[in-house]
Amino acid sequence: MTSELAKSQISATIVDDIEHLKGTYAGYRRAHARGVCYDATFTPSGEAAALTTAPHLQSTPVPATVRFSHTDTNPHLRDADRAVRGFATKFHLPDGGTTDLIGVNLDRFVASTPEQFRELIQAAQPDPVTGKPDLQNVRAYAGAHPTAGPGLAAAAVIPTPVSYASATYWAIHAFFWRNAAGEACAVKYRWVPDAGNVNITPEEGAGWSATHLAEELAERLKAGPAGFTLVIQLGEEGDNTDDSTQVWPADRTEITAGHLSITGEAADQEHWADQVFDPTQLPEGIEVSADPVLAARSTIYAVSYDRRIHKR
Ligand code: HEM
Repeated sequence: MTSELAKSQISATIVDDIEHLKGTYAGYRRAHARGVCYDATFTPSGEAAALTTAPHLQSTPVPATVRFSHTDTNPHLRDADRAVRGFATKFHLPDGGTTDLIGVNLDRFVASTPEQFRELIQAAQPDPVTGKPDLQNVRAYAGAHPTAGPGLAAAAVIPTPVSYASATYWAIHAFFWRNAAGEACAVKYRWVPDAGNVNITPEEGAGWSATHLAEELAERLKAGPAGFTLVIQLGEEGDNTDDSTQVWPADRTEITAGHLSITGEAADQEHWADQVFDPTQLPEGIEVSADPVLAARSTIYAVSYDRRIHKR
């Protein structure tokens, strides 16, 4: 069996597992089902230009499309609930191509490999009697994979932001940048909100509508754009680049790659909702790391795309 075939088979199996765990919502993404798309402009600072030839990280602003989302497979869950949020950006490049950068408001993942993620889904299956996941099984998963523990613990207490524009979002995986001289460096990305990190208590969200965060952002954008700074952490010798449960030390050198200004809702929501945001869709000057979760996401998202586009 070729590794490509192996990858596509485990990807289909993982999507089956997610459907089995969470149910199927025809026509929706199998994760991050509910989202809204926005128009934006990314203005590079120029600081990244010495480290990468990527066209959107030089000196010319580029248009971008952003999709904010609720992580669940069920598109009808309430925004006030504790949940991971997504921030997917599609940069529109000068040559007509695109590149995607996908973040969540969590700094690390909950599995080191797609196979581990499958184990986690199995561990989270509801008990047939109580209808709820058996926490012993999730604890056993964390015990068997100690590096997954911090991500799981952080996800369990993740705060709800007052706005999509008031959370920090991490792209989690390491990538490699390559400059004009052919030199490579390891990088990690995060979006830091101009509005600061501002969260609610679950009680404060009691009066929210299910889709409060999209309504709040629509109101906020009437007063002006919502902004995020793209901060890059530069890896050093020995920093892990292939395990998305690992973060780098906080004292690593950081640069500001640019600023994103979100201006309003995209006119054609249906068109943008149909698109795939794929973290391995990269221009010259940016390369994937050997992180197996990153490698699998492309085929997993293609399987989800195929099902939702055929209204399954
Ligand atoms: C094995 C691990 C993972 C699995 C099985 C998985 C599964 C999925 C699936 C099925 C989708 C829907 C794709 C589509 O229909 O277009 C999705 C979207 C998404 N995933 Fe993942 N994912 C994984 C890892 C991650 C990681 C590490 C991140 C962190 C950045 C992430 C963030 C997102 C976001 C933000 C979206 C929504 C993108 C959009 O708005 O189109 N995922 N994921």
